[in-house]
Amino acid sequence: AFANIAQAPEDPILGVTVAYNKDPSPIKVNLGVGAYRTEEGKPLVLNVVRRAEQLLINDPSRVKEYLPITGLADFNKLSAKLILGADSPAIQENRVATVQCLSGTGSLRVGGEFLARHYHQRTIYIPQPTWGNHPKVFTLAGLSVKYYRYYDPATRGLHFHGLMEDLGSAPSGAIVLLHACAHNPTGVDPTLDQWNQIRQLMRSKGLLPFFDSAYQGFASGSLDADAESVRMFVADGGELFAAQSYAKNMGLYGERVGALSIVCKAADVAKRVESQLKLVIRPMYSNPPIHGASIVATILKDRDMYNEWTIELKAMADRIISMRKELSDALRVRGTPGDWSHIIKQIGMFTFTGLNQEQVAFMTKEYHIYMTSDGRISMAGLSSRTVPHLADAIHAAVTT
Ligand code: LMR
Repeated sequence: AFANIAQAPEDPILGVTVAYNKDPSPIKVNLGVGAYRTEEGKPLVLNVVRRAEQLLINDPSRVKEYLPITGLADFNKLSAKLILGADSPAIQENRVATVQCLSGTGSLRVGGEFLARHYHQRTIYIPQPTWGNHPKVFTLAGLSVKYYRYYDPATRGLHFHGLMEDLGSAPSGAIVLLHACAHNPTGVDPTLDQWNQIRQLMRSKGLLPFFDSAYQGFASGSLDADAESVRMFVADGGELFAAQSYAKNMGLYGERVGALSIVCKAADVAKRVESQLKLVIRPMYSNPPIHGASIVATILKDRDMYNEWTIELKAMADRIISMRKELSDALRVRGTPGDWSHIIKQIGMFTFTGLNQEQVAFMTKEYHIYMTSDGRISMAGLSSRTVPHLADAIHAAVTT
């Protein structure tokens, strides 16, 4: 039946790792996927995560029963608090429906399918550019995807005017995907003042905000500051969706742990929304896995472990910032033509270099540097040892 099935292309991001793994070169560097590496180039399991896992293993009351369809109740409460703030009026008024999902992607998909079933508007506006999986997730969830201008290649900054114009002409009620912080792939975020203008425009048109929060703690180094954009949209009393991932900020990539929160206008609405989310989740994967959510809940509810987490998170964020500085210095030393100040200015895990597809292909072929074809570099994959090699490659790519 499948003799003539076509070979599917590799994923534009995860396929970079596939290609990297096949390359026998000893000098190869993987700057494709947004996954943190130590200065030695190794994946990192946070100490606080190891500690939490020890506690879980030593606790005989822990069993491997199914979780409810909505996931671990403690985890859901704590996740909502983490993104919305401990003193959030929406939490105090019981207006938030939170369900544990399979990391950020799963949260987006569940939220998307819920919207396709229950919301009157099927159009979702996503930034141009955005994470490559966004359009696929939402299209397959049954929504119709449109783009709003976000990034201006000329300034390598926010295309604020274009953004406001495009959202201003979106049909009333349309859904708008917003990156809560550390926009992927550009590393360019609106200022708080710009966020406020976006909020006013969206509320005046009844546009529905859907936040993707995959990098809380990686933009400013502070968990609270990185959630300001979301909290602003809660403070005005309106509705919103927020998808959270613990892949990056707790280093729980393969545990697939995240949450979808829907802030509603009233407690009884949130209750009914949750009941409908269960109908989305049950036929999709029945109920979510227990281990990752237990790790997160253990850390978030213990003050000491929470503090240890914030310190380790800050250390990851700081190492990325120092890589920005080292790469920018290395290009300056080489006299590489062009303005590279955006390497320092952009925030989060990525630098959106401005290198084109041919230049990226050249760097992969000649220097064994693996990155996505849009010119995005995962700064979290870089180390002092590999910066000179990357700088050589960029220099060669723009001068040959
Ligand atoms: C990325 O953009 O590299 C990460 O979000 C990982 C992924 O799943 O693509």
